[in-house]
Amino acid sequence: MDVKKYGPWALIIGGSEGIGLAFAKRLAAQGLNIAITARKKAALEAAAAEIRTAGNVDVRYLSQDMTAPDMMDRIEAFTRNMDVGLVIYNAGAMDRITTFLGDTIEGHLHTIRLNCEGPTRIAHHFASMMKTKGRGGIILMSSAACLAGMYGVPIYAATKAFETILAEGLWCEMRDYGVSVMSSVIGAVRTPAHHRLLGVNQPGAADPDDIARDTLDNLENGPTYYSKEMQGALSTMGGFDRRRIVMTMAENSKAFGVVGMNTKPFDPNLSVQ
Ligand SMILES: NC(=O)c1ccc[n+]([C@@H]2O[C@H](COP(=O)([O-])OP(=O)(O)OC[C@H]3O[C@@H](n4cnc5c(N)ncnc54)[C@H](OP(=O)(O)O)[C@@H]3O)[C@@H](O)[C@H]2O)c1
Repeated sequence: MDVKKYGPWALIIGGSEGIGLAFAKRLAAQGLNIAITARKKAALEAAAAEIRTAGNVDVRYLSQDMTAPDMMDRIEAFTRNMDVGLVIYNAGAMDRITTFLGDTIEGHLHTIRLNCEGPTRIAHHFASMMKTKGRGGIILMSSAACLAGMYGVPIYAATKAFETILAEGLWCEMRDYGVSVMSSVIGAVRTPAHHRLLGVNQPGAADPDDIARDTLDNLENGPTYYSKEMQGALSTMGGFDRRRIVMTMAENSKAFGVVGMNTKPFDPNLSVQ
């Protein structure tokens, strides 16, 4: 990991356990200061102690629910004095399996806040600062669920598609500014959250540290990284080259704005007739 490009601070949203903690320990061992967030304070404290033993770096944590209305204000205050070069939005695994009508609308909106609103706000804030600095990296943790609609987790799958497509768009917008953006598309991983969901360890599930290592190793191979397990699955599904698809789409969409289209930021008054 290039500390000059991606340091001195890495922010990991959902860094107290599983893949997020594995990212934190790897990055600490490589000399990056680590800022982690999650909801449970005791788990954050324990994680911070583990991260400190992994690397002789500064480690800070914030207890914050990413679906809370004050989320962005609190993350901004927490990171105000840190030069954040790498952001990983990791929180957001499925914690229940219900059909679309089997869950409440509030349940669906909660998932959308965590996996769509959260990454959008975080990426908007940090990408803007990275663009000014001309360096940095953003990783959104996605899932095999992003590939297609799924029975039992229709909203989760849709939100993971959102994260992957968002990362792909950001990848083509930010690459000229020295900022690497990537979504990591992974299959089952042996995390505490996955165990809580299933009640057992899923046989054949990947190791969180392997996922963290491979994701970081591929940060500059965006826009979309498929884990080793996913690459096997994709080959039986026909496979497709996301970089080629994104580049083709980007070439077409770059024409936007040169033909007199409205490219101004959102104006709430414009939609009032
Ligand atoms: N595990 C898998 O099999 C698997 C498969 C495919 C994709 N993924 C993706 O990999 C990522 C990590 O998954 P994971 O299995 O490690 O579980 P996870 O629940 O997404 O991540 C665990 C971390 O996120 C925090 N977190 C969860 N909900 C939060 C919230 N509302 N606000 C703030 N922090 C929150 C947890 O701490 P607190 O609970 O204390 O908040 C913990 O630090 C997810 O994006 C998931 O979609 C995982």
